[in-house]
Amino acid sequence: MDFEQFKPYFRERVEHHINTLIPSNDLQPTQLHEAMRYSALNPGKRTRPLLVYATGLMCGANPESLDNAAAAVELIHAYSLVHDDLPCMDDDDLRRGLPTCHIQFGEATAVLCGDALQTLAFDVLINDQSPQISPDNKLKMLSTLSLASGSLGMGGGQAIDLASTGKTLALDKLEQMHLMKTGALIEASVLMGYFGSEKKTEKEILALKEYSKAIGLAFQIRDDILDIESDTEILGKPQGSDVAANKVTYPSLLGLEGAKEHAYKQYQLALEALAKLPYNSELLRKFAQHIIERDR
Ligand code: IPE
Ligand code: IPE
Ligand code: MG
Ligand code: MG
Ligand code: MG
Repeated sequence: MDFEQFKPYFRERVEHHINTLIPSNDLQPTQLHEAMRYSALNPGKRTRPLLVYATGLMCGANPESLDNAAAAVELIHAYSLVHDDLPCMDDDDLRRGLPTCHIQFGEATAVLCGDALQTLAFDVLINDQSPQISPDNKLKMLSTLSLASGSLGMGGGQAIDLASTGKTLALDKLEQMHLMKTGALIEASVLMGYFGSEKKTEKEILALKEYSKAIGLAFQIRDDILDIESDTEILGKPQGSDVAANKVTYPSLLGLEGAKEHAYKQYQLALEALAKLPYNSELLRKFAQHIIERDR
C-alpha cells in the first residue's frame, strides 16, 4: 500500500478503535468520559499509531494484532498533550484547532482526563485478546510502552523541558530532552509494531531503535521549526508558543537553517538504519521524509 493510501485508511481504523475503547459519554462520570473522547479523538495526525501499523505490516504482522498497540500509544500521547497544555506546564489554550481540554472542561477534569487516558492505554494492552500475539510479545509491548511513558521517557523529558525553560541548554542536553519527551513514544510505536509480528532478533531491534531515534529527534525538531514558521490555523495550536514561553529549542540554539539541516541529517541516519533491515522499508522511508517535511 502506498503512503498516501495508507495514512487515511489506518487513521480511520485507529480512531474507530479508540472510540470503542473509551467508555460511553452516557456512563458516569459523564463529563470525564466526554473529556477523554474529546482529547483523544480531536483531529490529530495519529503519527504514532501509523508508525505501529507501518512497522508491523512491514514485518508481516496483520492489522488486527496491531490495533490495540496503535490505540494504546495514541491514548498515552493524548494524555501527554492534555497535561502539556495545562497552565502549570505550557499554558496553551488551543489544540488541534479547538480549545484545550482544561479550557473546555476545567483544570481538574483535564488532570483526571490525562490520568484516565494513561491507565486506559495499559488496560487495553493487558486485555488484548488477539490470538496472534504471544504472551511474551504482549509483555514486551507493555514494558516498552510503560518505560517510554515514565520518568526515563516522555514524562522525564517533560520534566527536563520545564526545568530548562528560560535557561539555555548545551546541544547534547537538548537532544537528550527531545529524545525523551518525544522520541521515546515514537520509538515505542515502532517497537510495538515489531512485537505485533513474530519476528524477534536483536539485530533488527537495534536497527529499528536507530531508525526511531533519528525520526523521533527529527519529529521534535520539525515541531520546533513549525512553532516559528507555520501559522496557528494550519498548526491547530498557537504559533509562537515556544518563543513566548522562552523554551530552549533547536532553532533557538542553531537558528532556523541550522535546525533544518539537523533534521535532514536525521533523515539520512534513518535511511542508513533502514538499510540494515531485510524488509521492504519503503513505507518507513516515506514516513521519515514526511516527518521532516510536514507542515503541521
Ligand atoms: C505534538 O505531537 C507534540 C509533540 C510531541 C511534538 P503531534 O504533532 O503528533 O500532535 P497531534 O497528535 O498531531 O495533534
Ligand atoms: C510536547 O512538546 C511533548 C509532549 C510530550 C507532549 P511541545 O510542548 O513542543 O508540544 P506542542 O508544541 O505543545 O504540541
Ligand atoms: Mg511542552
Ligand atoms: Mg506544548
Ligand atoms: Mg512544540
